[in-house]
Amino acid sequence: MKLNLRTTRGEIHICSDLEELSRQAAARFVRLANEFVTRRGSFNVALSGGSTPRCLYTMLASPRFRENIDWQRVHLFWGDERCVPPAHAESNYRMVKEVLLSKVPIPPENIHRMPAEKEDPQLAAIEYERAIGEFFKLSGSEPPRFDLVLLGLGEDGHVASLFPGTAVLDERRGLVAAPYVEKLHAHRLTLTLPVLNHAANIILLVSGRAKAAILKDVLEGKYQPDKLPAQLIKPVQGKLLWMVDKAAASNLSLGSGDEA
Ligand code: 6PG
Repeated sequence: MKLNLRTTRGEIHICSDLEELSRQAAARFVRLANEFVTRRGSFNVALSGGSTPRCLYTMLASPRFRENIDWQRVHLFWGDERCVPPAHAESNYRMVKEVLLSKVPIPPENIHRMPAEKEDPQLAAIEYERAIGEFFKLSGSEPPRFDLVLLGLGEDGHVASLFPGTAVLDERRGLVAAPYVEKLHAHRLTLTLPVLNHAANIILLVSGRAKAAILKDVLEGKYQPDKLPAQLIKPVQGKLLWMVDKAAASNLSLGSGDEA
C-alpha cells in the first residue's frame, strides 16, 4: 500500500511497514542511480546512519536490486558518523559495510568513509571537507550537489548529526562539521545544511510508532527549527521526499492523498 501526500513540507509516501518502505526506497535508489549514471556517468550518494536504513541497504545488496545498479559508477559518502573507529559497533560505516559494501562490487576507491577515528574531530571534519572538495572539484563557495542524500529522523527531531540547539544548525560556510553533542557526551561528524539542502534528491526514511509524535511535530507542528532541525531540510533546487511507514505516520492528519 502506498499513499502519496503533498504538503508544504515535502511529498510524503506512506508505506505499510518498514519492509515495504525499504523496498520502495530501494527501487527509487535504482531508478536514480540509472538516471544519473546515464546522464552524467556517476551516482553520488550521502548515506544515512542509524538503524532505519539498515533494511534498505540490505535490500540493495539483494540480487533483485544489486544487479540493476552499475556499482562501478556509484560513489558512497556518509551524511554523518559517530567519532569511533570503523570497526566499532556504533560506526555507521561498519553497519553499511556489513550489509552492503561487503556484498556488492563497488570499487574501494568509490567508498568515501568519514575519518571518524581521528583523535581530533575538527581535523577529521577538515579532512573530509577536503576530500569532498576534491571529488566534486569544487571552486568558490558553491556547495557540492549530491545526487541523493538519505536521512533518518531522530526522536528529538535531529537529522544527520544536526541536533536541536547546537551551533552547527547555523553553519552556512563549512561543508563538514564536528559538533560536540552534549546529550551524547560525544563529538559527531556531519555534513552541514548547505550541503544537505543542495542535494538533487533528499529522502527521509522514518519508521515505527516511536517516531509518530516527532514526525507530526516536524511536518504539521509549529515551525521551530532550533528545536526541530528536520524542519531545516529544504532543498534549494531539489526534491524532498518523506518515505514513512504507517506506524510513523499514525499521528498525521492525512490530507487528500492518492493511494497507489
Ligand atoms: C545516526 C544518524 C541519525 C539517525 C537518526 C534516526 O548517526 O544515528 O545519522 O541521524 O538517522 O538518529 O536513527 P534511527 O534510524 O536509528 O531511528
